[in-house]
Amino acid sequence: MFPKLPSHLFPFLILLTLASLCFFSSFLSSSSSSSTSQSLAISNCNLFKGNWVLDPNHTPLYDETCPFHRNAWNCIRNQRQNMSFINSWKWVPRGCDLPRIDPFRFLGLMRNQNVGFVGDSLNENFLASFLCILRIADEGARRWKKKGAWRGAYFPKFNVTVGYHRAVLLSKYQWQPKQTEAGKQDGSEGVNRVDVDVPADEWAKIAGFYDVLVFNTGHWWNYDKFPKEKPLVFYKAGQPIVPPLGMLEGLKVVLGNMITYIEKEFPRKTLKFWRLQSPRHFYGGDWNQNGSCLFNKPLEENELDSWFEPRNNGVNKEARQMNSVIEEILQDTSIQLLDLTHLSEFRADAHPAIWLGRKDAVAIWGQDCMHWCLPGVPDTWVDILSQLILDGIGRTGRL
Ligand SMILES: *[C@@H]1O[C@H](CO)[C@@H](O)[C@H](O)[C@H]1NC(C)=O
Ligand SMILES: *[C@@H]1O[C@H](CO)[C@@H](O)[C@H](O)[C@H]1NC(C)=O
Ligand SMILES: *[C@@H]1O[C@H](CO)[C@@H](O)[C@H](O)[C@H]1NC(C)=O
Repeated sequence: MFPKLPSHLFPFLILLTLASLCFFSSFLSSSSSSSTSQSLAISNCNLFKGNWVLDPNHTPLYDETCPFHRNAWNCIRNQRQNMSFINSWKWVPRGCDLPRIDPFRFLGLMRNQNVGFVGDSLNENFLASFLCILRIADEGARRWKKKGAWRGAYFPKFNVTVGYHRAVLLSKYQWQPKQTEAGKQDGSEGVNRVDVDVPADEWAKIAGFYDVLVFNTGHWWNYDKFPKEKPLVFYKAGQPIVPPLGMLEGLKVVLGNMITYIEKEFPRKTLKFWRLQSPRHFYGGDWNQNGSCLFNKPLEENELDSWFEPRNNGVNKEARQMNSVIEEILQDTSIQLLDLTHLSEFRADAHPAIWLGRKDAVAIWGQDCMHWCLPGVPDTWVDILSQLILDGIGRTGRL
């Protein structure tokens, strides 16, 4: 091949050839699997533990004009000051960098696939952030509402639907008026019947449609929503459970049954996530006791336990309590934990508080220290979720 080359150059040439082969093949594989190599680095790192770092270059991906906002969470339009400062905090996991979602790349990889959220308004909060971010890659996105969905959007460029199914307890529940002796009903007295083994109609039949699902429940399991005079009464196989279950026992039974249903009825290839509790930040009293969240910056790590550790008995203690119940029941299932609680615990500064877009809202409902301003903390949830989705569908060979 190289008749005029001195023979002592041969080993060198062979090396050179090998090196260029290596270079070329690594180039080829990195261009075809850049998502996998990136997510490998990410999967070595716990995305849920870390710190918020002030970074002036970290700006929101959308603004108050996004058509998928809900007014009460649109803090920029509702003229909360300092929103650009509030949104300059960047979540930095310990040991790696969390990449920002690239909506073009994400939707490109998700072509012809659908993502669903099932749960309470905190999952709607999550959805609204997701829709506003994805819309950057497809301005033709339009409202979508089918199959029991509360709301959602369709992204025509990519044939992707992202929907939210409202099911606050996950299982079916209905108001059951008390029967008086004369057989008449008095609407004001009764119970909330929960069928622990029946998923709510809103999501019972969506199994074939979604490729990714994010479940949650939590904020409705309390005596504000279901006071003692209008209690939750749990039914199984159409009969009241005896002896009657308390609320927390009921939650456990419902979770067990809903998870069994999900595992049985939803295809194995559907990626399933369970979002753990979104913490509230009521300071100085609960929502109906003038509790407030007029904070200008995130809490410090050493403040978190006094706010949230159940044994300190603060008004926001339920998030960690719920999580321990949910985490135990989710063990050994195919459902992946989306543990966004800890990172969100820091962000006492990021709720709509008094900037709700309606003058009388605070007088009626108190401050909102439960949902999140958008743009805001749920945008970071979206960064994490999208990373785990790409990671998950890469692993199951669907990319
Ligand atoms: C805005 O941020 C500055 C600096 O942290 C603070 O002094 C001011 O009180 C904040 N304004 C509001 C309305 O929170
Ligand atoms: C859009 O995606 C669905 C799956 O969600 C698929 O059944 C359908 O064929 C796709 N439509 C087009 C035009 O590719
Ligand atoms: C909340 O504040 C209002 C007005 O300051 C006061 O009248 C009311 O008693 C307070 N409620 C509680 C539960 O502290």
